[in-house]
Amino acid sequence: MATRSMLISGASSGIGAAVARELARHGWPLALSARRRDALDDLASELRQRHPGLRVSVHVHDVTDYASSDALIRDAAEALGGLSAVFVNAGIGLGGRIGGKSFDKQRRTIETNLLGAMAVTDAAVRHFRAHGGGQVVGTCSVAAFRGVPGNVAYSASKAALSTYLEGLRAEGWREGIRVTVLYPGFVRTPIVEGVAHTPFAIEADRAARLIVRAIERQAPRAIVPRFPWTLARWLMPLIPSRLLARAGF
Ligand SMILES: NC(=O)c1ccc[n+]([C@@H]2O[C@H](COP(=O)([O-])OP(=O)(O)OC[C@H]3O[C@@H](n4cnc5c(N)ncnc54)[C@H](OP(=O)(O)O)[C@@H]3O)[C@@H](O)[C@H]2O)c1
Repeated sequence: MATRSMLISGASSGIGAAVARELARHGWPLALSARRRDALDDLASELRQRHPGLRVSVHVHDVTDYASSDALIRDAAEALGGLSAVFVNAGIGLGGRIGGKSFDKQRRTIETNLLGAMAVTDAAVRHFRAHGGGQVVGTCSVAAFRGVPGNVAYSASKAALSTYLEGLRAEGWREGIRVTVLYPGFVRTPIVEGVAHTPFAIEADRAARLIVRAIERQAPRAIVPRFPWTLARWLMPLIPSRLLARAGF
């Protein structure tokens, strides 16, 4: 495996940017990717200024451009002189009730959060296989534990991504591919702006510290933060639908 270095998708904002700041503090060379070049360039300048000598590259990339995933991984590996890890984190939170004329939003949610994440993971695993192993870190969500009224497609995208990544851990084990699946609760980032209720929300920098600890330990999975969401993992499937119908985020 190459010495540690990471490509982060969805690095232009929120959790991805906060994790980039924390990894940079720990000395990780970083390839930052997302669609918004300006935000990536600003973050890259900040990191280079704070950590002189740290390798930081910028890669404008839309995860729904599935065919370009191999090029993204190749460019990141070239820029950093090798790639040991990929953080599959880009995501959107478009909601809408089933049957409520929001199918287009739901389709885009699946295309980004699930298919986009799979495309980047697929290319990364191909690269890691050829280079003696690597680590895939993926951002799922506590919303994967139960279909959340008003945002069921988002829950479905994260539940499917969770199954995909948990399966990859076994599939890639003998090839030195390690997988860390993240299940964050609410984190104060642009994706939850306008969401009426965000119980137990934490700041992105706190989430990033917990996430980086899990990444560096190569933990198989991490619920972020552990309390109260570990309890929610067991309780959410047990809540009667008639009570859950009153919720909705
Ligand atoms: N905040 C929470 O409460 C929470 C909880 C659980 C899980 N999550 C997950 O955490 C991840 C990061 O979200 P966040 O909270 O940090 O929200 P955010 O601040 O809105 O960040 C989302 C990131 O994804 C990128 N992105 C979106 N669509 C993309 C596309 N098609 N191609 C490439 N990049 C794309 C955005 O960059 P560009 O717009 O520049 O492309 C941005 O960098 C998401 O997967 C989200 O589902 C968030």
